Amino acid sequence: MKFSHESIEKNPWLLIALVLLVVSIGGLAEIVPLFFQKSTTEPVTGLTPYPPLRLAGRDIYIREGCYNCHSQMIRPFRAETERYGHYSVAGEFVYDRPFQWGSKRTGPDLARVGGRYSDEWQRAHLHNPRDLVPESNMPAYPWLEKTHLKPDEIVPRLRALQRLGDPYGDAEIAAAPAALEGKTEQDALVAYLQGLGTLIKAER
Ligand code: HEC
Repeated sequence: MKFSHESIEKNPWLLIALVLLVVSIGGLAEIVPLFFQKSTTEPVTGLTPYPPLRLAGRDIYIREGCYNCHSQMIRPFRAETERYGHYSVAGEFVYDRPFQWGSKRTGPDLARVGGRYSDEWQRAHLHNPRDLVPESNMPAYPWLEKTHLKPDEIVPRLRALQRLGDPYGDAEIAAAPAALEGKTEQDALVAYLQGLGTLIKAER
């Protein structure tokens, strides 16, 4: 068979294989360098791996599907930075596995919600958003304040992250369950929210 354009077009399997090859070269050239580029792999100043309570809160955020309505990524546009603060940078998410960036915004972006409201506000809002924002369509999460964390469950999670290269020490992991003792799921989620995006402040 002559290896011509026509023979490629008339042979669907060859065409599929070559299309996949070409597309994957494009993807590799764009994506793989990011794994090694300093600005995307270097944590911003002050960033530490999630402490146990915030890590547990992050798992609850994912379990409850908060990402279905909230993004965590402020784009570098004036309309966004005026509303939410400094745009998001890659170095803020070095310890986020998986990222919660998203693009669906039924509710506001949460990338810099940390410190915007008091803990009491966050608790009341999670208990029933309409007590604070009457027109809100965010679901209520009243079970979070009644459900206690299972402290021992944090250990394998921390170990997995340690194996992936997050700088957790063995002593830190051993001490983690004690930090969750007596805490509710709501405590953990509020701790998580209150830490979001606090390392970079908008320069005004
Ligand atoms: C069905 C969509 C939806 C889901 C799911 C949802 N939210 Fe919301 N959220 C909203 C909307 C709409 C608002 C704006 C009105 C309000 O403040 O209640 C909001 C507001 C917020 C705010 C205040 C943000 C600000 O800057 O004022 C926080 C914090 C928040 N949500 C956290 C959460 C968390 C945590 C979860 C998961 C447990 C969650 N949301 C799930 C729709 C949602």
